Amino acid sequence: MDQRVVPIRRVSRVVTGMETMDGAGVRLSRVIGGARLPQLDPFLLLDHFRSNDPEDYIGGFPPHPHRGFETVTYLLEGRVRHQDSAGHSGVIESGGVQWMTAGRGVVHSEMPEQEEGQLAGLQLWINLPAADKMSLPRYQEFAREDIPEEQREAGVKVRVVAGTSSRGTSGPVTGLITPVTYLDVSLPAGNHFSESLPPRFNGFVYLIDGELEIAGTSVGSRSLAVLGEGERVDIEARQESRLLLVAGQSLDEPVARRGPFVMNNEAELQQAFRDYQEGRF
Ligand code: CO
Repeated sequence: MDQRVVPIRRVSRVVTGMETMDGAGVRLSRVIGGARLPQLDPFLLLDHFRSNDPEDYIGGFPPHPHRGFETVTYLLEGRVRHQDSAGHSGVIESGGVQWMTAGRGVVHSEMPEQEEGQLAGLQLWINLPAADKMSLPRYQEFAREDIPEEQREAGVKVRVVAGTSSRGTSGPVTGLITPVTYLDVSLPAGNHFSESLPPRFNGFVYLIDGELEIAGTSVGSRSLAVLGEGERVDIEARQESRLLLVAGQSLDEPVARRGPFVMNNEAELQQAFRDYQEGRF
């Protein structure tokens, strides 16, 4: 029998984000984690925020807890200060990433470090397997210049945040419990981008700006294309485009989530709320 994996990944769905507010009045588009796409194992949430109006972001995200997963904040424009209950703090700047493994728990805040101008970026939540949900918290932070950029043919640029690209460039984020590839790709109009992904990874393309065609399916700005199974994704830019190509190993475990906690069952969720209320984070 022929057991080969189908070569080209097609688009199984295109999803647009839902406009919502989170934190202390931050306006954002929830692309994964809302009613249209509650999750895409191992991804639990994808938020895209982008505004020139301080009213949309100035409230930020005052102290709040997380347990059981990782949060990845990738800043496209502006500055965000983060601070946590263990005394860890810093500023994420334009082009930088913070990869936080919340594990057993952190209480942190994420606040804009600016009062005007554009603030734009993405936050992705990646689930952790049951065995690692109570691991010690860990941070990985990299500035724009720490993230390698491939200059491919015809002006295609690929920033490798995590994982290893098909050209052999590895991102600075390492030691991931849930294996993930995270690429930021810029494409001039009319050009192609082709990339192989581990066939068992679930993957998506999120189009920050522009217009794409992926294996015959049109994808508009600020929408997400869920990729079907296969080895390779082939993308054509109809307009100048910037996209994230993200893929990860699915966990295939039960998910029990409420607010900032993502565990495997209801009892663990209740334990998370108790631990937080009793100051055990
Ligand atoms: Co947070």
